[in-house]
Amino acid sequence: VPLTAATPASPAAVAQTSLDPADWNGFRDCAHQLLDAVLDHLQGAGAGPVWQPVSAALDQAMRRPLPLAPTATTEVARELAELVLPSGVGNTHPRFFGWVHGAGTPGGVLAELVAAAVNANVGGRDHGAVRIERQVLAWAKAIMGFPPQSSGLLVSGTSMGNLVAIQAARTAALGPMARAQGVAAALAQRFPGARGLTAYASEAVHACVLKGMGIAGLGSDSLRLLPVDASHRLCPERLEAAIHADRAAGFVPFLVVGTAGTVDIGATDDLAALARVAAQNKLWFHVDGAFGALAILSPAHRPRLAGIEAADSLAFDFHKWAHVPYDAGCVLIRDERCHRQSFAMAPNYLERAPRGTAAGAPWFCDYGPELSRSARAIKVWATLREQGLERIGAAIASNCELAQHLGRRLAAQPGFELLAPIPLNIVCFRHHPAGIAPDQLDPHNRELACDLQESGVAVVSTTRLRGQLALRAAIVNHRTTASDLDILVDALVRAARRRAAR
Ligand SMILES: Cc1ncc(COP(=O)(O)O)c(C=O)c1O
Repeated sequence: VPLTAATPASPAAVAQTSLDPADWNGFRDCAHQLLDAVLDHLQGAGAGPVWQPVSAALDQAMRRPLPLAPTATTEVARELAELVLPSGVGNTHPRFFGWVHGAGTPGGVLAELVAAAVNANVGGRDHGAVRIERQVLAWAKAIMGFPPQSSGLLVSGTSMGNLVAIQAARTAALGPMARAQGVAAALAQRFPGARGLTAYASEAVHACVLKGMGIAGLGSDSLRLLPVDASHRLCPERLEAAIHADRAAGFVPFLVVGTAGTVDIGATDDLAALARVAAQNKLWFHVDGAFGALAILSPAHRPRLAGIEAADSLAFDFHKWAHVPYDAGCVLIRDERCHRQSFAMAPNYLERAPRGTAAGAPWFCDYGPELSRSARAIKVWATLREQGLERIGAAIASNCELAQHLGRRLAAQPGFELLAPIPLNIVCFRHHPAGIAPDQLDPHNRELACDLQESGVAVVSTTRLRGQLALRAAIVNHRTTASDLDILVDALVRAARRRAAR
């Protein structure tokens, strides 16, 4: 290949453009100050409003033109400390009860620092972060009762974990040819005349499973959403009946999805019973355990997860109830070969070697859609080591006891009513003032959630249960105490009174 005319005549003519600091000592001082600001922020996590609208200063600062010239590190650090640090959604605060958010730990911050310094790409090759991810996965398998020879992957979160598992289940049903030729061709070859693959979950399944079915080319309508029983769980008899009905109608049932900790109320399906139905019908059994699976770390809650060890695949998050900083999800797949067949490729430029940097096959890119992957394992490993599984389990059990406390307080509070059982850490309720028109109940409670959020005292979110809007408090934060819940109840009562007065 001829050299281009632009090639400099001598090496001395090549100007170096390093992006490292020109003044390392100054950078160090600035970095230490910023670390102090970060630790102050976490040490005072319970001070100040839980949530506040994004500041005008941040809003303004995020409308600048392209940053063509450099900005001093001290100025960037100042903006990080003054603008970015205070503008979180609130999940580090002990009175954040919205959605299902982990709260993080100061130790997680330290691990993130190291991960950024190592700057490892864990798609493959042979280096420390790969070993750390394998260690974390070995721990995940041991926690969940999966065999050591099963495979796994750290992912952005359970949405991605569920997608990886659906893809593996698709391979188990249609074979790897579906990747090359598409689902329709693979279906026609394996099951001539079949109308399509079908999957089964309760109506309380997280929407990301529907999304995953769509992305995997199977169609979200192919996920049959079965009604739940009084405890919000998928009924095994209904599941069995639905499988038989679909078979009789010319479909090919291939997947059952059980949930450990439903997103709306925290119910856990009878995983052992679902595993049995799946096995009897030769279906893949996947468990979405986004937050609920880690309740296995609490001796008091472990029994409700019986059967999780029988799953073909499991997705759960370390960033929720293990408080690893976002993002850190995990997926485990019992059949390593099927997992690899679902994702592995061998392009020339990713050739594996028996030794050297390109050793260490299989690589993590063989188990998921991503090639470049961050070293999430470092913060998971550090958090599990620093906290220990027993203490994480104790924090989970404490959250569940606090949910019962909140349930009792709300049940005793005139004008408030519980809308669902409290099997784990989520309390669904609403304010039902005397005399309110039925069609005003939902708007009234929606406004109440906004009033509370904007007050800065606490954050709850909303969901819909059997068509009714519910206020939903998910207690996930290890910093939350009973007095935080008492403050929540008092704030709700005040907000409801104010609204009634209007
Ligand atoms: C049961 C369940 N599944 C899946 C998810 C999605 O997880 P992620 O947000 O980590 O992708 C959630 C999130 O709360 C969940 O509760």
